[in-house]
This record gives sequence, structure tokens and C-alpha cells, in this order.
Amino acid sequence: MSELAWWQRGVIYQVYPRSFQDSNGDGIGDLAGITWRLPYLAGLGIDAVWLSPIYPSPMADFGYDVADYCDIDPMFGTLGDFKQFADRAHELGLKVLLDFVPNHSSDRHPWFEESRSSRENPKRDWYLWRDPAPDGGPPNNWLSRMGGSAWEWDERTGQYYYHAFLREQPDLNWRNPQVRRAMDDVLRFWLDRGVDGFRVDVLWLLIKDAQFRDNPPNPAYEPGQPEHHRQLQTYTEDQPEVHEIVRSMRATLDEYGERVLIGEIYLPVPQLVRYYGANGDGADMPFNFQLLNAAWNAGEIARMIRDYDSALPEHAWPNWVLGNHDNPRVASRVGAAQARVAAVLLLTLRGTPTLYYGDEIGMTDGEIPPDQVQDPAEIRQPGIGQGRDPERTPMQWDAALPGAGFTNGRSWLPISTDTSVRAQDGDPSSMLSLYRRLLELRRSNAALVQGAIENVAATGDVLTFERHYRGQRLFIALNMGAADAVMQPRSAVVLLSTLAGREGLALPESGYRLAGSEAIIAAI
Ligand code: GLC
Ligand code: CA
Repeated sequence: MSELAWWQRGVIYQVYPRSFQDSNGDGIGDLAGITWRLPYLAGLGIDAVWLSPIYPSPMADFGYDVADYCDIDPMFGTLGDFKQFADRAHELGLKVLLDFVPNHSSDRHPWFEESRSSRENPKRDWYLWRDPAPDGGPPNNWLSRMGGSAWEWDERTGQYYYHAFLREQPDLNWRNPQVRRAMDDVLRFWLDRGVDGFRVDVLWLLIKDAQFRDNPPNPAYEPGQPEHHRQLQTYTEDQPEVHEIVRSMRATLDEYGERVLIGEIYLPVPQLVRYYGANGDGADMPFNFQLLNAAWNAGEIARMIRDYDSALPEHAWPNWVLGNHDNPRVASRVGAAQARVAAVLLLTLRGTPTLYYGDEIGMTDGEIPPDQVQDPAEIRQPGIGQGRDPERTPMQWDAALPGAGFTNGRSWLPISTDTSVRAQDGDPSSMLSLYRRLLELRRSNAALVQGAIENVAATGDVLTFERHYRGQRLFIALNMGAADAVMQPRSAVVLLSTLAGREGLALPESGYRLAGSEAIIAAI
């Protein structure tokens, strides 16, 4: 598998640092805790750890409001702790990915404090400042993704500034060359410290319309959706000039060798794939989020796989994501039985999979009592299901320990004890064992890593496809329904099933009865 880059062969695992492992009893996860748990991740069989932001932050958006791009928040540790984490990860053969948040800083970042201090300040133009409309109101109709106008009035200097998210997260002006240089320095700061790549936050939002034109209304808006869905984001996202910025980030990473650039991009596939760049000079992997809100049925998923595969530019490497810190957990979306099918799907599709911490033990969305809500997305737009606390609850290590092994103190979000790593560890039928077997099988079968994907088909509730590389052909069948389904494979031998006792089974050509919610990988 040597002709592929490590990030093409590997599997990425996202850690939400606040919720992985607390080491000092303050109820919040930290770097020392993650370092301590690295052997677990190496044993699971993943290849790269992506950490959501760990930089100094007032935590208005739990770290996605960065007050210093080149340091570590004391809550998470120090630069020394980061070094220990990265060194230990590398010793264990794991790559280290950081979250890069270039679209906006915290309003407490010294850059913004300077920028807002006067209209003449040299950093004024580092952010998006505009005069009021003639009636004194906001300069245009742009809406924040956290509710309300995206413009915040600044009394002292008599202008508004733009924030795509919270008012505590002013957007930087990426048309300003000094901003671009400063951000390039940030990338280099971490690359010099051995970081293997970045997940770039809201990459498709970086540039806004130069003329600040009003966004048009969205005719498909339905009450109950987040407020900014009232408008099409015509002038606030996916602007043509963004691609040049992606190219320059990519060029910086290329100076350091095989580093990976991943973009957080929520766009339809035809627009998404443009972020690969024209000649492979863009992002290595614009995140493919289609599975996050796919209708969970065989026909829909088959269509999605085929469309994505045919939309990919030549040489573009695919990727798939099943969960993250902004979306309900897969086990809650599709149920426990289908979460096992989803695991097989994620790890057999063509392209790099990204796992979200806790999904490997089938964690479900936590119950958050109203008085314990933390997420500003819920607090500022209550009652429309935008809250992200449920998918951010702490990792369940050992239900028998206080704090489930996550903390000795009082956890920042409630911890569920319905299952745990400890409970699943030695159980061959557990979700954790399934993930370990899948990751092991992927590692040892080139067809799963670099094989073509062929014969994608949906028959009733059963999704089937093949992975083919050199002499090896694997057949994957996933029953996305609850009822048994008979399928006609060519003669095949089961390498893995979500059910116990089927490995090694020879499948007769006459027909094989796939149990409800069973998924198999077979050699044909
Ligand atoms: C991204 C992050 C999300 C954050 C937002 C603003 O979408 O994933 O958690 O709230 O950017 O930074
Ligand atoms: Ca802690």
C-alpha cells in the first residue's frame, strides 16, 4: 500500500478534548488525560488523532473562539503538555491533527482588541467593519448562524463588525494580506512542532462578498429551522476567491512534506468537490458529511455512493464521516442495531473514514437537563434542536468508577453509564470488538483501503458493493432493514459479520439469509 499517503491509508479519530479524559479533577478533559489514553487509541487501530481546539479561549464557543493561535489554554495544559502528547502519539505510530480556526477569532484576541480600539488602528482592517445603513441599522441583512443579525454595533468607533457565529467570534478579513500572513505563521508554528495536518474550521465561509450585497430570501425556508436559513447564503459562503486561499494553505503544508489539509465544508457535492482544487492543489480532503443526515435506507445510500464517486475529480481522494461534535450521534440517529451496520459501511467505503470519539462503543446522545445546557447554539436559539451538548458528553470509560473513569470531579456535562469501554472490552459481540475487528481487517486487506468500489446496488433493504484490488475482490452486504433478507452472492467466504459465529462461513451461491441489521464482508 506504499503508493498511498498515510492519510489515505489511515483512519482518523476525532477527540473532543473537553470530554475525553480529565487528569486533574476539574471535570473537564485535558491534554494529559488524552496522552494517558493514547494506548487505547493505538490499540483500537486508528491512525491519526484530530483534536478539536485546545488554544487559549474564553470558551464562548468551547474553543472555537481563539484568543491566541499559538498557545494552549491552561484548562487543557501547556505547550509542554502538547509536546508530550505529540511525542507519545508519534511513538505509538499515531499522527496528530489540529483544528485550525481561521475564519474568526475570539473578541478577546489582541488582534481584535486592537482592531476595535479605533478606526485608525493598523489592525482595523483585519476584521470586517462597516458603517451603519442610512437608518442607523446594520449595514446589510446578513444573519448569524447562532441567531439574529450577523452585525454587532460598536459604540466606541461607530461601526458594525461582522460575525458569522457569536458576537464573541468576529470574522477576520481574509482579503487583507497581513491577516493571511499572520495565519500562515500560525500554520508554520504548529507544523514546526511536528503537527501532521489540520482540519480547517468552516473553510467555505472564509471570504464574503466584496460588495456586501444582501443575501436573497430562501424560498424553501420552513418555520422551526435556524433563523439564518431564511436566506440563501449567496454572498456569505463559498465565494470564488476562497479557492485561492485554500491553495496557499496547501502550498504551506507542502513545504513540510506529507501533511494533510482537511476542510470542514457543508455544501452539496458538486460545490464540495471544487475544494480539491483544479490540479490537486486544493484541500486533500474536503470533509464529506453526506452520511450525517442521510435518509437511512439502502437506495438512498447507494445513490449517494455512486453520485459522490462520479463527482470526484481525477486523483481526488474520497472520505466519509459518520459523526462529529456538531451533529447527533449515529447510534441515536439510526439506532443501536443499525449503528453496527453503519460501522461496517464507514470502514468499507472507498476513502478515508473519520470516527468520532465514543461512536466505537455506540455512545448515544446524552440527556441534558435544561439547567445544565452549555452550548451557546442551544442557549441563543432555544427549542429548535440546535444544541450540541448531547453529542459532546464525556467518554464512558468504566461505568463502575465514579465519573465513569472520565473524571474524579464533577463533570462539565452529564455522563451516561449505559455502556463503557470496560464493559465492552472483553466481549466479542460488543460494538468495541466490532470496531477493532473492522479496523484490523481494513489494515490487512488492501482492497478495503485502495480498491475500486464497484457494483453498488440496493435490493430492497440490502445495500451491496464490491471492493476490488489486484487479485482480491471483497463483497460487502449491509441489511439496512430489520427483517431477514435473502441475497444471492457469488460463492464467498465470510471474513466478518456483525453477528457472532459467522466468520469463515462459506456462502452458497444458492442464496444466503442475511439477518435483520446484519452486515457482512466476504471474500469472493
Ligand atoms: C465549526 C465548528 C463548530 C463551531 C463553528 C464556529 O462549525 O465545528 O463547533 O461552533 O465552526 O467556529
Ligand atoms: Ca481537567
